[in-house]
Amino acid sequence: MIPIASPDLSGNESQNVAQCLESTWISSAGRFISEFEDAFAKVAGTRHAVATNNGTTALHLALVAAGVGPGDEVIVPALTYIATANAVRYCGATPVFADVVADTMNIDPADIEHRITERTKVVVPVHLYGHPADMSPIMEVAQRHGLTVIEDAAEAHASRIDGRPVGSIGHLGVFSFFGNKIVTTGEGGAVTTDDDEMAARLRLLRGQGMDPQRRYWFPVVGFNYRMTNVAAAIGVAQIERIDALLARRTQIARLYTDLLAGAEGIALPVERPNAQRVDWLYTVQITGFTSDQRNRLIDLLAEDGIETRPVFYPLHLMPPYESTPALHFPVAEQVGAEGISLPTHTLLSDEDVRTVTDALVARVAQLRA
Ligand SMILES: Cc1ncc(COP(=O)(O)O)c(C=O)c1O
Repeated sequence: MIPIASPDLSGNESQNVAQCLESTWISSAGRFISEFEDAFAKVAGTRHAVATNNGTTALHLALVAAGVGPGDEVIVPALTYIATANAVRYCGATPVFADVVADTMNIDPADIEHRITERTKVVVPVHLYGHPADMSPIMEVAQRHGLTVIEDAAEAHASRIDGRPVGSIGHLGVFSFFGNKIVTTGEGGAVTTDDDEMAARLRLLRGQGMDPQRRYWFPVVGFNYRMTNVAAAIGVAQIERIDALLARRTQIARLYTDLLAGAEGIALPVERPNAQRVDWLYTVQITGFTSDQRNRLIDLLAEDGIETRPVFYPLHLMPPYESTPALHFPVAEQVGAEGISLPTHTLLSDEDVRTVTDALVARVAQLRA
Protein backbone atom coordinates (compact mmCIF):
# COMPACT_ATOMS: atom_id res chain seq x y z
CA MET A 1 0.00 0.00 0.00
CA ILE A 2 1.26 3.50 -0.78
CA PRO A 3 0.20 5.42 2.35
CA ILE A 4 -1.31 8.88 2.08
CA ALA A 5 0.99 10.24 4.78
CA SER A 6 4.02 9.10 6.71
CA PRO A 7 6.24 10.86 9.23
CA ASP A 8 9.89 11.21 8.24
CA LEU A 9 11.91 10.57 11.40
CA SER A 10 15.31 10.12 9.83
CA GLY A 11 17.12 13.00 11.59
CA ASN A 12 17.91 13.45 15.29
CA GLU A 13 14.45 12.30 16.45
CA SER A 14 15.58 8.97 18.00
CA GLN A 15 18.64 10.51 19.62
CA ASN A 16 16.56 13.33 21.17
CA VAL A 17 13.89 10.93 22.46
CA ALA A 18 16.63 8.72 23.95
CA GLN A 19 17.92 11.78 25.79
CA CYS A 20 14.48 12.29 27.36
CA LEU A 21 14.41 8.68 28.52
CA GLU A 22 17.98 8.72 29.85
CA SER A 23 17.40 12.00 31.70
CA THR A 24 13.93 10.85 32.90
CA TRP A 25 12.43 14.17 31.69
CA ILE A 26 9.43 12.63 29.96
CA SER A 27 6.54 14.84 31.13
CA SER A 28 5.92 18.50 30.44
CA ALA A 29 9.11 19.97 31.85
CA GLY A 30 12.48 19.62 30.12
CA ARG A 31 14.74 21.47 27.76
CA PHE A 32 13.15 20.37 24.50
CA ILE A 33 9.87 22.19 25.20
CA SER A 34 11.32 25.69 25.22
CA GLU A 35 13.73 24.74 22.39
CA PHE A 36 10.78 23.61 20.31
CA GLU A 37 8.73 26.69 21.15
CA ASP A 38 11.60 29.03 20.23
CA ALA A 39 12.33 27.18 16.98
CA PHE A 40 8.69 27.05 15.95
CA ALA A 41 8.11 30.74 16.73
CA LYS A 42 10.85 31.42 14.14
CA VAL A 43 9.01 29.27 11.57
CA ALA A 44 5.78 31.19 12.22
CA GLY A 45 7.53 34.55 12.40
CA THR A 46 6.04 35.41 15.82
CA ARG A 47 7.43 36.44 19.20
CA HIS A 48 5.79 33.46 20.93
CA ALA A 49 4.79 29.86 20.26
CA VAL A 50 3.00 28.12 23.13
CA ALA A 51 3.18 24.34 22.65
CA THR A 52 0.17 22.14 23.43
CA ASN A 53 -0.65 18.44 23.38
CA ASN A 54 -2.52 18.63 20.05
CA GLY A 55 -3.95 21.06 17.50
CA THR A 56 -7.51 20.78 18.81
CA THR A 57 -6.48 21.87 22.31
CA ALA A 58 -4.43 24.67 20.73
CA LEU A 59 -7.61 25.87 18.99
CA HIS A 60 -9.61 25.63 22.23
CA LEU A 61 -6.90 27.46 24.17
CA ALA A 62 -6.74 30.26 21.57
CA LEU A 63 -10.53 30.70 21.61
CA VAL A 64 -10.66 30.80 25.42
CA ALA A 65 -7.74 33.24 25.55
CA ALA A 66 -9.59 35.41 23.00
CA GLY A 67 -12.50 35.53 25.46
CA VAL A 68 -14.96 33.30 23.54
CA GLY A 69 -17.76 31.96 25.73
CA PRO A 70 -21.42 30.98 25.78
CA GLY A 71 -23.62 33.09 23.48
CA ASP A 72 -20.74 34.16 21.22
CA GLU A 73 -20.53 33.36 17.52
CA VAL A 74 -17.36 32.38 15.70
CA ILE A 75 -17.18 32.42 11.89
CA VAL A 76 -15.44 29.37 10.42
CA PRO A 77 -15.32 27.99 6.87
CA ALA A 78 -18.02 25.46 5.93
CA LEU A 79 -15.21 23.26 4.61
CA THR A 80 -12.55 22.34 7.16
CA TYR A 81 -11.56 19.58 9.54
CA ILE A 82 -14.18 19.09 12.25
CA ALA A 83 -11.83 20.26 15.05
CA THR A 84 -12.15 23.90 13.90
CA ALA A 85 -15.88 23.88 14.73
CA ASN A 86 -15.70 21.48 17.68
CA ALA A 87 -13.32 23.78 19.56
CA VAL A 88 -15.90 26.58 19.23
CA ARG A 89 -18.54 24.27 20.72
CA TYR A 90 -16.20 23.41 23.64
CA CYS A 91 -16.46 27.12 24.57
CA GLY A 92 -20.27 26.95 24.58
CA ALA A 93 -20.19 29.25 21.53
CA THR A 94 -21.76 28.72 18.10
CA PRO A 95 -19.78 28.16 14.91
CA VAL A 96 -21.29 30.15 12.04
CA PHE A 97 -20.28 28.93 8.62
CA ALA A 98 -19.10 30.92 5.62
CA ASP A 99 -18.67 29.46 2.14
CA VAL A 100 -15.29 28.84 0.55
CA VAL A 101 -13.79 29.78 -2.83
CA ALA A 102 -13.37 27.01 -5.41
CA ASP A 103 -9.70 27.46 -6.39
CA THR A 104 -8.02 27.32 -2.95
CA MET A 105 -10.96 25.80 -0.99
CA ASN A 106 -10.38 28.49 1.66
CA ILE A 107 -12.93 30.76 3.35
CA ASP A 108 -14.45 33.36 1.02
CA PRO A 109 -13.62 36.78 2.49
CA ALA A 110 -16.66 38.25 0.70
CA ASP A 111 -18.98 35.82 2.53
CA ILE A 112 -17.61 36.63 6.01
CA GLU A 113 -19.27 40.03 6.23
CA HIS A 114 -22.75 38.52 5.53
CA ARG A 115 -22.36 36.23 8.54
CA ILE A 116 -21.44 38.89 11.10
CA THR A 117 -24.01 39.63 13.82
CA GLU A 118 -23.76 41.55 17.10
CA ARG A 119 -22.75 38.24 18.71
CA THR A 120 -19.75 37.60 16.44
CA LYS A 121 -16.48 37.65 18.34
CA VAL A 122 -13.89 35.78 16.29
CA VAL A 123 -13.17 34.69 12.71
CA VAL A 124 -11.13 31.53 12.13
CA PRO A 125 -9.74 31.33 8.58
CA VAL A 126 -8.22 27.90 7.85
CA HIS A 127 -5.25 27.48 5.53
CA LEU A 128 -6.49 24.28 3.93
CA TYR A 129 -4.17 21.60 2.53
CA GLY A 130 -1.23 24.02 2.52
CA HIS A 131 -2.64 27.01 0.62
CA PRO A 132 -3.00 30.13 2.78
CA ALA A 133 -6.36 31.86 3.05
CA ASP A 134 -6.57 35.38 1.62
CA MET A 135 -5.69 37.20 4.84
CA SER A 136 -5.69 40.89 3.75
CA PRO A 137 -9.45 41.21 3.12
CA ILE A 138 -10.14 38.99 6.15
CA MET A 139 -8.09 41.27 8.45
CA GLU A 140 -9.76 44.31 6.93
CA VAL A 141 -13.32 43.03 7.63
CA ALA A 142 -12.30 41.88 11.13
CA GLN A 143 -10.78 45.24 11.96
CA ARG A 144 -13.85 47.12 10.76
CA HIS A 145 -16.07 45.01 13.05
CA GLY A 146 -13.66 44.73 16.00
CA LEU A 147 -13.25 40.95 15.66
CA THR A 148 -10.31 38.78 16.71
CA VAL A 149 -8.74 36.62 13.98
CA ILE A 150 -7.39 33.18 14.86
CA GLU A 151 -5.63 31.51 11.93
CA ASP A 152 -6.02 27.73 11.82
CA ALA A 153 -2.68 26.89 10.22
CA ALA A 154 -2.70 23.20 11.20
CA GLU A 155 -2.13 22.13 7.60
CA ALA A 156 0.09 24.90 6.29
CA HIS A 157 3.30 25.21 8.33
CA ALA A 158 5.60 27.86 6.80
CA SER A 159 3.29 28.86 3.95
CA ARG A 160 3.10 32.59 3.24
CA ILE A 161 0.59 35.11 2.00
CA ASP A 162 1.60 38.59 0.87
CA GLY A 163 5.10 37.64 2.04
CA ARG A 164 4.13 36.86 5.64
CA PRO A 165 4.19 33.41 7.25
CA VAL A 166 0.82 32.00 8.32
CA GLY A 167 0.26 32.17 12.05
CA SER A 168 1.77 35.66 12.22
CA ILE A 169 -0.99 37.62 10.47
CA GLY A 170 -4.04 37.16 12.70
CA HIS A 171 -4.05 37.97 16.42
CA LEU A 172 -3.37 34.29 17.12
CA GLY A 173 -2.27 31.32 15.02
CA VAL A 174 -2.93 27.64 15.67
CA PHE A 175 -0.87 24.66 14.48
CA SER A 176 -1.14 20.86 14.67
CA PHE A 177 1.85 18.51 14.80
CA PHE A 178 -0.07 15.25 14.33
CA GLY A 179 1.88 12.43 12.66
CA ASN A 180 0.66 13.34 9.17
CA LYS A 181 1.63 17.02 9.39
CA ILE A 182 4.60 18.78 7.74
CA VAL A 183 6.36 19.10 11.13
CA THR A 184 5.27 16.39 13.55
CA THR A 185 5.69 15.73 17.26
CA GLY A 186 3.46 12.60 17.15
CA GLU A 187 0.58 14.43 18.77
CA GLY A 188 1.07 18.13 19.41
CA GLY A 189 0.03 21.67 18.68
CA ALA A 190 0.96 25.30 19.25
CA VAL A 191 -0.59 28.73 19.49
CA THR A 192 1.46 31.58 18.05
CA THR A 193 1.18 35.28 18.83
CA ASP A 194 3.16 38.51 18.94
CA ASP A 195 1.22 39.74 21.97
CA ASP A 196 3.20 39.24 25.22
CA GLU A 197 0.11 39.45 27.45
CA MET A 198 -1.78 36.98 25.29
CA ALA A 199 1.19 34.57 25.41
CA ALA A 200 1.22 34.77 29.22
CA ARG A 201 -2.53 34.08 29.30
CA LEU A 202 -2.12 31.09 26.98
CA ARG A 203 0.62 29.67 29.23
CA LEU A 204 -1.52 30.20 32.32
CA LEU A 205 -4.55 28.45 30.78
CA ARG A 206 -2.41 25.63 29.34
CA GLY A 207 -1.04 24.69 32.77
CA GLN A 208 -4.28 24.29 34.76
CA GLY A 209 -4.37 28.03 35.47
CA MET A 210 -1.54 27.85 38.03
CA ASP A 211 -0.16 31.26 39.02
CA PRO A 212 3.43 31.41 37.68
CA GLN A 213 4.52 33.37 40.80
CA ARG A 214 2.75 31.17 43.36
CA ARG A 215 2.88 27.40 42.95
CA TYR A 216 -0.40 25.54 43.54
CA TRP A 217 -2.44 28.77 43.55
CA PHE A 218 -5.01 28.78 40.76
CA PRO A 219 -6.58 32.17 39.97
CA VAL A 220 -8.57 30.82 36.97
CA VAL A 221 -9.96 27.52 35.68
CA GLY A 222 -7.34 26.27 33.23
CA PHE A 223 -6.63 23.06 31.34
CA ASN A 224 -3.91 20.47 31.18
CA TYR A 225 -2.99 21.01 27.52
CA ARG A 226 0.79 20.78 27.96
CA MET A 227 3.10 19.18 25.38
CA THR A 228 5.49 16.50 26.66
CA ASN A 229 9.27 16.84 26.49
CA VAL A 230 9.30 13.62 24.43
CA ALA A 231 6.99 15.13 21.80
CA ALA A 232 9.00 18.37 21.77
CA ALA A 233 12.21 16.31 21.35
CA ILE A 234 10.80 14.90 18.11
CA GLY A 235 9.70 18.39 17.05
CA VAL A 236 13.14 19.93 17.59
CA ALA A 237 14.66 17.34 15.24
CA GLN A 238 11.89 17.95 12.69
CA ILE A 239 12.46 21.71 12.63
CA GLU A 240 16.20 21.16 12.08
CA ARG A 241 15.20 19.63 8.73
CA ILE A 242 12.13 21.72 7.87
CA ASP A 243 13.67 23.19 4.71
CA ALA A 244 14.46 19.75 3.32
CA LEU A 245 11.05 18.39 4.34
CA LEU A 246 9.28 21.26 2.58
CA ALA A 247 11.51 21.02 -0.50
CA ARG A 248 10.82 17.30 -1.01
CA ARG A 249 7.06 17.92 -0.66
CA THR A 250 7.31 20.66 -3.29
CA GLN A 251 9.17 18.30 -5.65
CA ILE A 252 6.48 15.68 -5.22
CA ALA A 253 3.71 18.21 -5.86
CA ARG A 254 5.50 19.45 -9.00
CA LEU A 255 5.83 15.90 -10.26
CA TYR A 256 2.11 15.30 -9.69
CA THR A 257 1.34 18.53 -11.57
CA ASP A 258 3.64 17.56 -14.49
CA LEU A 259 2.18 14.08 -14.75
CA LEU A 260 -1.46 15.19 -14.43
CA ALA A 261 -1.23 18.29 -16.65
CA GLY A 262 -3.68 17.73 -19.48
CA ALA A 263 -5.55 14.91 -17.72
CA GLU A 264 -9.14 15.65 -18.68
CA GLY A 265 -11.59 16.47 -15.92
CA ILE A 266 -8.97 16.56 -13.14
CA ALA A 267 -8.48 20.07 -11.71
CA LEU A 268 -5.11 20.55 -10.04
CA PRO A 269 -4.18 22.62 -6.97
CA VAL A 270 -3.41 26.28 -7.55
CA GLU A 271 -0.99 28.81 -6.10
CA ARG A 272 -2.37 32.34 -6.08
CA PRO A 273 0.14 35.04 -7.17
CA ASN A 274 0.29 36.54 -3.63
CA ALA A 275 0.74 33.13 -1.97
CA GLN A 276 3.57 30.69 -1.34
CA ARG A 277 1.77 27.43 -0.73
CA VAL A 278 3.25 24.40 1.01
CA ASP A 279 2.27 20.92 -0.01
CA TRP A 280 0.60 19.24 2.90
CA LEU A 281 -1.77 17.04 0.88
CA TYR A 282 -1.84 17.27 -2.91
CA THR A 283 -5.58 17.56 -3.52
CA VAL A 284 -7.35 17.43 -6.88
CA GLN A 285 -10.98 17.87 -7.99
CA ILE A 286 -12.60 15.29 -10.24
CA THR A 287 -14.83 17.67 -12.17
CA GLY A 288 -18.52 16.78 -12.08
CA PHE A 289 -18.15 13.83 -9.70
CA THR A 290 -20.69 13.30 -6.96
CA SER A 291 -19.54 12.40 -3.48
CA ASP A 292 -20.56 8.74 -4.18
CA GLN A 293 -18.50 8.60 -7.38
CA ARG A 294 -15.50 10.11 -5.58
CA ASN A 295 -15.87 7.56 -2.77
CA ARG A 296 -16.02 4.74 -5.37
CA LEU A 297 -12.78 6.15 -6.82
CA ILE A 298 -11.17 5.99 -3.37
CA ASP A 299 -12.22 2.31 -3.07
CA LEU A 300 -10.86 1.45 -6.52
CA LEU A 301 -7.54 3.14 -5.79
CA ALA A 302 -7.33 1.20 -2.53
CA GLU A 303 -7.69 -1.97 -4.64
CA ASP A 304 -4.68 -0.68 -6.61
CA GLY A 305 -2.72 -0.36 -3.36
CA ILE A 306 -3.03 3.42 -3.04
CA GLU A 307 -4.39 5.17 0.02
CA THR A 308 -6.26 8.42 -0.68
CA ARG A 309 -8.86 10.39 1.23
CA PRO A 310 -11.90 12.51 0.50
CA VAL A 311 -11.80 16.26 0.87
CA PHE A 312 -13.55 17.15 4.13
CA TYR A 313 -17.31 16.74 4.17
CA PRO A 314 -18.79 20.23 4.64
CA LEU A 315 -19.54 20.77 8.31
CA HIS A 316 -23.16 21.85 7.82
CA LEU A 317 -23.96 18.41 6.37
CA MET A 318 -22.80 16.48 9.47
CA PRO A 319 -25.13 15.65 12.40
CA PRO A 320 -23.63 17.95 15.07
CA TYR A 321 -23.80 20.97 12.77
CA GLU A 322 -26.93 20.38 10.65
CA SER A 323 -29.61 23.00 11.04
CA THR A 324 -33.30 23.40 10.21
CA PRO A 325 -34.02 24.79 7.71
CA ALA A 326 -30.98 23.25 6.01
CA LEU A 327 -28.22 25.69 5.09
CA HIS A 328 -26.43 25.54 1.76
CA PHE A 329 -22.88 26.45 0.92
CA PRO A 330 -22.71 25.60 -2.78
CA VAL A 331 -18.95 25.88 -3.27
CA ALA A 332 -18.11 23.87 -0.13
CA GLU A 333 -20.59 21.21 -1.25
CA GLN A 334 -19.11 21.00 -4.74
CA VAL A 335 -15.42 20.86 -3.79
CA GLY A 336 -16.27 18.60 -0.84
CA ALA A 337 -17.85 16.13 -3.31
CA GLU A 338 -15.27 16.33 -6.10
CA GLY A 339 -12.10 16.50 -4.04
CA ILE A 340 -9.61 13.72 -3.34
CA SER A 341 -6.23 14.01 -1.60
CA LEU A 342 -3.36 11.95 -2.96
CA PRO A 343 -0.36 10.49 -1.07
CA THR A 344 1.96 13.38 -0.15
CA HIS A 345 4.98 12.83 2.08
CA THR A 346 8.74 12.85 1.90
CA LEU A 347 9.17 9.06 1.87
CA LEU A 348 7.42 8.70 -1.51
CA SER A 349 9.64 7.90 -4.48
CA ASP A 350 9.10 9.49 -7.89
CA GLU A 351 8.06 6.01 -9.02
CA ASP A 352 5.33 5.96 -6.34
CA VAL A 353 3.99 9.27 -7.68
CA ARG A 354 3.87 7.80 -11.20
CA THR A 355 2.04 4.74 -9.88
CA VAL A 356 -0.54 7.02 -8.24
CA THR A 357 -1.12 9.23 -11.29
CA ASP A 358 -1.37 6.25 -13.70
CA ALA A 359 -3.94 4.58 -11.44
CA LEU A 360 -5.87 7.81 -10.88
CA VAL A 361 -6.18 8.60 -14.59
CA ALA A 362 -7.21 5.00 -15.40
CA ARG A 363 -9.78 4.75 -12.61
CA VAL A 364 -11.34 8.15 -13.38
CA ALA A 365 -11.69 7.09 -17.05
CA GLN A 366 -13.27 3.80 -15.93
CA LEU A 367 -15.79 5.61 -13.74
CA ARG A 368 -16.67 8.09 -16.50
CA ALA A 369 -17.14 5.35 -19.15
C1 LIG B 1 -7.51 22.34 9.82
C2 LIG B 1 -7.24 21.57 11.08
N1 LIG B 1 -7.53 22.13 12.26
C3 LIG B 1 -7.28 21.50 13.43
C4 LIG B 1 -6.74 20.24 13.47
C5 LIG B 1 -6.59 19.56 14.77
O1 LIG B 1 -5.33 19.10 15.05
P1 LIG B 1 -5.07 17.78 15.93
O2 LIG B 1 -5.44 16.61 15.08
O3 LIG B 1 -3.61 17.87 16.23
O4 LIG B 1 -5.91 17.88 17.15
C6 LIG B 1 -6.39 19.62 12.26
C7 LIG B 1 -5.76 18.30 12.30
O5 LIG B 1 -5.69 17.46 11.59
C8 LIG B 1 -6.67 20.28 11.03
O6 LIG B 1 -6.39 19.71 9.86
